[in-house]
Amino acid sequence: MTLTIRPIDPVSRPFFAGEVSGIDITRPLTPDQVAAIDKGMDRFGVLVFHDQKFDDETQLAFSRNFGGLEEASGDLNWGKARRIESPLVNDISNLDNDNKVLARDNRRRLFSLGNRLWHSDSSFKAVPAKYSLLSARLIPSAGGDTEFADMRAAYDALDEETKSECENLICEHSQIYSRSMLGFTDFTPEDMVRFKPVQQRLVRRHPSTGRKSLYLASHAGAIIGWPVPEARAFLRDLVEHATQRRFVYAHAWKQWDLVMWDNRATMHRARPFDAKEVRDMHRTTVACERSTMAEAA
Ligand code: OGA
Ligand code: MN
Repeated sequence: MTLTIRPIDPVSRPFFAGEVSGIDITRPLTPDQVAAIDKGMDRFGVLVFHDQKFDDETQLAFSRNFGGLEEASGDLNWGKARRIESPLVNDISNLDNDNKVLARDNRRRLFSLGNRLWHSDSSFKAVPAKYSLLSARLIPSAGGDTEFADMRAAYDALDEETKSECENLICEHSQIYSRSMLGFTDFTPEDMVRFKPVQQRLVRRHPSTGRKSLYLASHAGAIIGWPVPEARAFLRDLVEHATQRRFVYAHAWKQWDLVMWDNRATMHRARPFDAKEVRDMHRTTVACERSTMAEAA
């Protein structure tokens, strides 16, 4: 078996979203295989692997090849009883702790609808996410795609004036901003402390490729030194620019797909599906090594 990566859309997006074949990533990898995947991530930003029958243990083992893992502490039920045992696995499902589909008005479900807004994982943490790895354990019969936007291409397509306006801006990110955009304000005083805003650069330079990208997310609700409405209007325009269809790959899931994306170079969002059906996805997350504030500009 040789690992090959082919662009999913070679005509419109030859350098964004690759499909990997010739590798079983549920088994231990050689250093060469890990290096080939890292290289593919630098090139494509999103990699799709099919037919990978992960459980949490094998998913964690694969993920650890790429760096230190994050805890799932962005969850609303962090610190409480969880459906998934490992604190390093994010529960991206619509299931309760007895594996029953959450009621339409369930607080955790409403909070998780925040994933329908364009975002980059854990931008609300001082040290945000590098790679996310999402494993499709059970999927609904229709809908529930995940869309990815190429923030390197979006940055490159900005006019020079906008690029220089963005260059040194610092944003504040918090889940309080992103959730309130959907009218979710049901936070406890403890949540308010836990989700206190953090600062992130608006323009990042990728540590391996040197490429610049726009570091945007629904969590970004303020720009340091700017009046809030002006900042939000500006950020909204940038998100609108960055998520034009020409920058977007929509992934239609098959059971046992594993999709891995670079949060430094992409945004993503969930698409709707029938709330009565089960969608069970497990996410592991590789952390960045430092905050974007400490990264080289
Ligand atoms: C995530 C996420 C989108 C989806 O796992 O971080 O945003 O389609 N998922 O479930
Ligand atoms: Mn996400």
